Amino acid sequence: MSNEVNAVIIMFGGSGDLAHRKLYPALFGLYRKGVLKDHFAVIGTARRPWSDDYYRGVVRDSVAGSEEEHEAEAEAFASHFYYQSHDVTDSSHYVTLKQLAQKLDDQYAVGGNRMYYMAMAPQFFATIATHLKSEALLTKTGFNRLIIEKPFGHDYPSAKELNDALTGTFAEEQIYRIDHYLGKEMAQAILALRFGNPLLKTVWNKDYIKDIQITLAEAVGVEERAGYYETAGALRDMVQNHVMQLLAYLTMDEPTAMTSEAVHEVKSRAFDQLHRYTEEEAAANFIRAQYTAAAIDGQAIKGYREEDGVASASLTDTFVAGRIMTDAPAFAGVPIFIRTGKRLTRKSTQVTVTFKGGKTPFGEGQDAHLTIYIEPSQGYTLELNGKQLGEGNILTPNRLDFRHDPAAIAAAPEAYERLIGEALAGDQTNFNHWRELAQTWHYVDVITAAWQKQTGIETYPAGTMGPQAAFDLLAKDGHQWYWQPTRVRMAD
Ligand SMILES: NC(=O)c1ccc[n+]([C@@H]2O[C@H](COP(=O)([O-])OP(=O)(O)OC[C@H]3O[C@@H](n4cnc5c(N)ncnc54)[C@H](OP(=O)(O)O)[C@@H]3O)[C@@H](O)[C@H]2O)c1
Repeated sequence: MSNEVNAVIIMFGGSGDLAHRKLYPALFGLYRKGVLKDHFAVIGTARRPWSDDYYRGVVRDSVAGSEEEHEAEAEAFASHFYYQSHDVTDSSHYVTLKQLAQKLDDQYAVGGNRMYYMAMAPQFFATIATHLKSEALLTKTGFNRLIIEKPFGHDYPSAKELNDALTGTFAEEQIYRIDHYLGKEMAQAILALRFGNPLLKTVWNKDYIKDIQITLAEAVGVEERAGYYETAGALRDMVQNHVMQLLAYLTMDEPTAMTSEAVHEVKSRAFDQLHRYTEEEAAANFIRAQYTAAAIDGQAIKGYREEDGVASASLTDTFVAGRIMTDAPAFAGVPIFIRTGKRLTRKSTQVTVTFKGGKTPFGEGQDAHLTIYIEPSQGYTLELNGKQLGEGNILTPNRLDFRHDPAAIAAAPEAYERLIGEALAGDQTNFNHWRELAQTWHYVDVITAAWQKQTGIETYPAGTMGPQAAFDLLAKDGHQWYWQPTRVRMAD
């Protein structure tokens, strides 16, 4: 059965970094699989005055490969691309855009399906949506779907304002809000592990789980994004979206089916059940910090406040650690520790579930750990108590280790390819529902409000795993971070 999808894809921000690095390769991956084949066209739009030919060169360059066959495919793929110079704030340009979309729809016998991709700065999202309606770009036949990038607002009121603008043009069922973490293989595998194994289902609750730990560690600093980052910080940039989505996957009830409705229902319930802190409690349970200058491998690394574009007295968080509690009956009393930051020891996204140790006929059994490696390594480990080799009955931790083969990972579709493919197929499971965004912003806004009353910020030297306070946060209740990397340990 053919899985080909007919569509005219309109890419706002067609000359941008995201389009070049991620979106064109993702579309090319779908082209090579036959999802996009004969009946599709892409209109790239941005202000700069490119010709179709120049644009096709850019697209070919972004999907460049080494084999000759690949070159021919890239050429054929790029022939479906058209460029329209367009300022999204200028209404008259939407008229030309509409005409071009209609012309290409006829030329490629598309049948009215449209995909609008907002790959540009968020301040334009509402303007584009409003113009798509006022200039009547949405078709009467076929589907009209919107894919929208993060950040989706910077607090609840701004997210709501944006959502109101979008829903003036698109229904919730037409909006695909990207959180590219949900396109990652091992993020999706959390659900397979949890609900595909009766063995794990039985113990996935407060009776057996001691804590859950989520780490999203970046080794890089703020790079060229200081302008944006100064207005966001790690809490808004990473916690409200990626960390919260992983948390939902780890604590939500089992969905009745792997359908979009069923998954969103249990996710939303998980967010509803998060224990809401007062500002005082939020201040006690969430730590913000900033990296300071350090020498890493003989190289001098600037502190955050010395980075270009960062205010010398900036209080922006480049690191967050927190203790989240849920009132969900299955997890009452189980702390969920989260941390994320820039300039940490090593890049890794991983989740550890600590299962309680306790009394055994062999003496005290150690805690068992299930770690799910999301990136760059992909797989999972389970650390269980085994018997130490030799005489006597002495318990010792044994580690079962499964990692996906790097070659198989390289051959698997990248997150964006997966997500765009799902949006083309009309599957919203791995996209953010507005309800979830509203819930997570409400949760995060309390932390922001608590921090706004603070006049100082913790610091940590670049290359470490955050400030001492992030370790004390766990230690005060008898917990500790399972992953405590040094720069030389390569296994994770
Ligand atoms: N880059 C990433 O890896 C990444 C990752 C996750 C999320 N995102 C999100 O993706 C979005 C795009 O990011 P990006 O890095 O691709 O940004 P970018 O490189 O700055 O690209 C912005 C695009 O918007 C166009 N543009 C700017 N003003 C315009 C206007 N008034 N009318 C029409 N076009 C205009 C620019 O082209 P002209 O200058 O020619 O107009 C360019 O094509 C952002 O929301 C970002 O947060 C990006």
